[in-house]
Amino acid sequence: MDLREGSTYLDCTVGGAGHLMAMLNSTKDAKFIGVDCDPDAIEYSRKRTAAFSSRCCLTEDNFINLDLILDKLNVGSVDGILFDLGVSYHQLTTPSRGFSYDREGRLLMRMSPKTMSLRNRLQHAQKHEVIQVLKDFGDVRNYRKLGQKIYESRVSLDSTLQLSKLIEESVPRRFLKKNLQKVFQALRIWTNEELTNLAAALPVAFGRLSGRGRMVVISYHSGEDRIVKFFFRDLKIEKKARLLNKKAIKPSEKEISLNPRVRSAKLRVLEKCAS
Ligand SMILES: C[S@@+](CC[C@H](N)C(=O)[O-])C[C@H]1O[C@@H](n2cnc3c(N)ncnc32)[C@H](O)[C@@H]1O
Repeated sequence: MDLREGSTYLDCTVGGAGHLMAMLNSTKDAKFIGVDCDPDAIEYSRKRTAAFSSRCCLTEDNFINLDLILDKLNVGSVDGILFDLGVSYHQLTTPSRGFSYDREGRLLMRMSPKTMSLRNRLQHAQKHEVIQVLKDFGDVRNYRKLGQKIYESRVSLDSTLQLSKLIEESVPRRFLKKNLQKVFQALRIWTNEELTNLAAALPVAFGRLSGRGRMVVISYHSGEDRIVKFFFRDLKIEKKARLLNKKAIKPSEKEISLNPRVRSAKLRVLEKCAS
């Protein structure tokens, strides 16, 4: 992020404020704006960053509304932007949020309470849409068969464990865990419109970045990384930004052994050219 004193930075995915606290602790006079669409994340992070409230402002919103958020705060441009995409550990491990395949919860799977739940989404979906979601967002091997089954059970499907059982009945034992992960991931990406939100937010964020400011994006899914990669590449071709690393930065084996959840993480950084 190349944090500099006196500058203003934007964390678009505050979550549990892990990155935000690290940035606050490593500066004395830099200001931070934090955004998350999950009110629980904002409430938790507000408490966690309370000692820094004079230089840290948190907002519950979707990062697709970045222009509005910054306008409201009277901020024209920022000197660095962070996106740490996907779902937070807290969301994933809170059964009532409905994100995990091995914990009983209602089929909500939404990051923001303003988003339609997975259960409702399924009631409004067409069969081909459910099948496509499993194929595109989960790379699920038997996406056709599973998609059809989920579609046919959608009226009675009410909980995470019901969904897991349905997957269990359709998949050989040795592929079960991988399939559970992939199906849940695909349905989560769909429910929260994660790829569309990312594609819409990146250009807006870049527009608000000051010259020599950095944009750092951590993604966990190949669909996300593809969007970031091509967006960054185009800016490089247009000579609007330079890429700090030719290839995405991946966690080392040591980091993965300390924190297995980062296994699929890819980090990309660009620096906006001074105009
Ligand atoms: C991987 S977590 C971030 C963790 C955080 N960096 C930390 O250190 O604790 C991703 C967070 O982004 C939020 N999020 C995902 N999509 C969002 C969107 N479109 N707008 C705002 N927040 C979003 C989620 O609610 C979640 O809290």
